[in-house]
Amino acid sequence: MIRRLMLAVAVAALPLAVLATDARRDAILADYAAKSRAADPSAPAFSAQRGETLFRTKWTGGDPRTASCTACHTADPRVPGQNAKTGRPIEPVAVSVNPKRFTDPATVEKQFTRDCRSVLGRDCTPFEKGNYITFMAGQ
Ligand code: HEC
Repeated sequence: MIRRLMLAVAVAALPLAVLATDARRDAILADYAAKSRAADPSAPAFSAQRGETLFRTKWTGGDPRTASCTACHTADPRVPGQNAKTGRPIEPVAVSVNPKRFTDPATVEKQFTRDCRSVLGRDCTPFEKGNYITFMAGQ
């Protein structure tokens, strides 16, 4: 009886947890959208396709060990990655298999700064960050 009750409570709480997660990611995206429009009022909406291009492009400005995001996150965002510098494992970055991705603004900003400098040799713009998250949210 108690077990059944606990199960019912857990099932009832599930959609709330999922919604809360989505709301935090949406807030991060809204923040990048506002910053993107502030930098360029004619900036288009975020697109998964642009995000995928950012993810897969081989850049030349950064650390040669990490020419693209795929160097650590692999070509398939749904599978675990491996840090090309340290060899440490990295959990999948696709939201479908790792729903907690892109839900903590401080973590997201910290990693974008570190990873974009490593791969592109510069910071990513708010527009690029929004496109990237939009791509991963659909993976
Ligand atoms: C040197 C290896 C490496 C490369 C190359 C790399 N990343 Fe990462 N990335 C990591 C690690 C390590 C983490 C943190 C561990 C984790 O989240 O599992 C991470 C996490 C992230 C996160 C945080 C996701 C979250 O959980 O909210 C973002 C955003 C991110 N990476 C973006 C990028 C982008 C964009 C590129 C390409 C421009 C890129 N990464 C390339 C190693 C890398």
